Amino acid sequence: MGKITIAIDGYSSCGKSTIAKGLAKKLGYIYIDSGAMYRAVTLYCMQNKIIKEGKFSEGEVLKAMNNIHLAFNVNSLTHVSEMCLNGINVEKEIREMDVSEYVSPISAIKGVREKIVALQKKFGKDKGIVMDGRDIGTNVLLDAELKIFMTADPAVRAQRRWKELKEKGMSVSLDDVKRNLELRDHEDTHREHNPLRKAEDAVVLDNTHLDLDEQLIFAEKLVNSLE
Ligand code: DC
Repeated sequence: MGKITIAIDGYSSCGKSTIAKGLAKKLGYIYIDSGAMYRAVTLYCMQNKIIKEGKFSEGEVLKAMNNIHLAFNVNSLTHVSEMCLNGINVEKEIREMDVSEYVSPISAIKGVREKIVALQKKFGKDKGIVMDGRDIGTNVLLDAELKIFMTADPAVRAQRRWKELKEKGMSVSLDDVKRNLELRDHEDTHREHNPLRKAEDAVVLDNTHLDLDEQLIFAEKLVNSLE
């Protein structure tokens, strides 16, 4: 079988990126983390005081978009693509909790989405790509041969995310992580433009009780079934 395009969507902290990276590695595909792009825009707005005391004006964010250059650089050690904002690797900074606080409202701005989605479509032009996010199967890569919609019990997701942040040395409470996930799920599914929803042709993967190996086997079977 020739190379295909794989779109993975789902709720926050479902393990989309873990499975997307694992699949990309197995298949020799490129992995694109679409959420990282919205996170980088949010980080820029925070660094440049466009988000001040939790508030921002859409007009200012849109103006800032003209000064933002986003690119993915492949890490030579891990072979995973990492987010660069105006030439600087911001892979670590964009995962901080304060970026997570504001990324959903920033990503809901129509003009922000238009620019980012156009870029994502460009990145996804060639086959041999795994892209994860919220609207990849429903908006960005409509023709993807394989679409997966991931979900998991919210309490399990919060616990996993909290553990991951703690392992990265970030000090954050489980309650704060839980609150952030609930808020983002609500904002991402209720926004006006490209809300999170399952594409009609997507296969659901509920990984509440599955480990990574089991999920990869499930996803690989789906890929092989396309042959
Ligand atoms: O995947 P993530 O948690 O890093 O994404 C961060 C935020 O970006 C998420 O809360 C909503 C937004 N996002 C989006 O609107 N569309 C995407 N395709 C990916 C992410």
